[in-house]
Amino acid sequence: MNGDFDGKVALVTGAAGGIGRSCALAFAARGAAVVVCDLVEPTDTAAEVECHGVKALSLQLDVADGSAVRDAVDAAARAFGRLDFANNNAGAVAVAQLADLTEDEWNRAASVNLGGVFLGMKYQIPHLLETDGAIVNTASIWSEQGWAVESAYVASKHGVGGLTRTVAVDYGRQGIRINAVLAGGIRPAMTAAALTEATAPILSPTTLGRYGEAPEAVVWLCSAGAAHINGAVLLVGGGTSPPDSEEPRPVRPGLS
Ligand SMILES: NC(=O)c1ccc[n+]([C@@H]2O[C@H](COP(=O)([O-])OP(=O)(O)OC[C@H]3O[C@@H](n4cnc5c(N)ncnc54)[C@H](O)[C@@H]3O)[C@@H](O)[C@H]2O)c1
Repeated sequence: MNGDFDGKVALVTGAAGGIGRSCALAFAARGAAVVVCDLVEPTDTAAEVECHGVKALSLQLDVADGSAVRDAVDAAARAFGRLDFANNNAGAVAVAQLADLTEDEWNRAASVNLGGVFLGMKYQIPHLLETDGAIVNTASIWSEQGWAVESAYVASKHGVGGLTRTVAVDYGRQGIRINAVLAGGIRPAMTAAALTEATAPILSPTTLGRYGEAPEAVVWLCSAGAAHINGAVLLVGGGTSPPDSEEPRPVRPGLS
């Protein structure tokens, strides 16, 4: 498969680490130039991308800031002359029972997890129309079920599923495929970085008995092998299942 993305350009948000970094490297391994974006400019990821012999552009970006997203997407397309793929992957958690969740925490989770995907697609689509491109949004195994003390995160990730399915209908006939992955059981994990004492239940063993290292599915959904897949919300969790424990989850209020 290496080389099938030669001459293509991919943009990945939340690319400083975790799944976004892995996806950026997977795009690069297949030959794409990669634009990597994160709250903290992901220069290390860009350097690793370039080790694959392709070009990288590193951008500091808050995906919740509309004008910044527009400028970043335009800068990416200007730098490489085109945009073929986008992985809207940046995400943030908020951990508190609903009555204790502040309005700011709710708004931040919504504006990063759901608003960031809206803004990303809004400004990526005009470029992708020119290349018959593909978008993959990173949702969560919690996009389709409830989970303790993460109402803002879970609700926003549910929204990513609905947004993906709907926008896929809008743009399928115009040549853009738009899908989402429901990530789970991936290492290194946002949950490991952000929730510490709450990681055990979230990172419960998958039915494969191991964690995933990278959502190869993201890159595959952009490839010719997935040419007939549009509006899919694909579970990529190694068969992750909720924990057996009935112990309540520890709560650490706050939003990463
Ligand atoms: N790891 C898993 O098992 C798992 C499970 C379910 C969903 N996910 C989803 O996968 C995505 C990546 O998670 P991860 O596990 O790699 O976590 P991670 O914390 O390693 O990566 C998230 C990245 O998003 C960046 N980010 C946060 N807010 C941002 C903003 N406003 N603008 C730009 N970048 C921002 C962070 O800086 C970080 O680099 C997230 O959307 C997450 O919800 C992961």
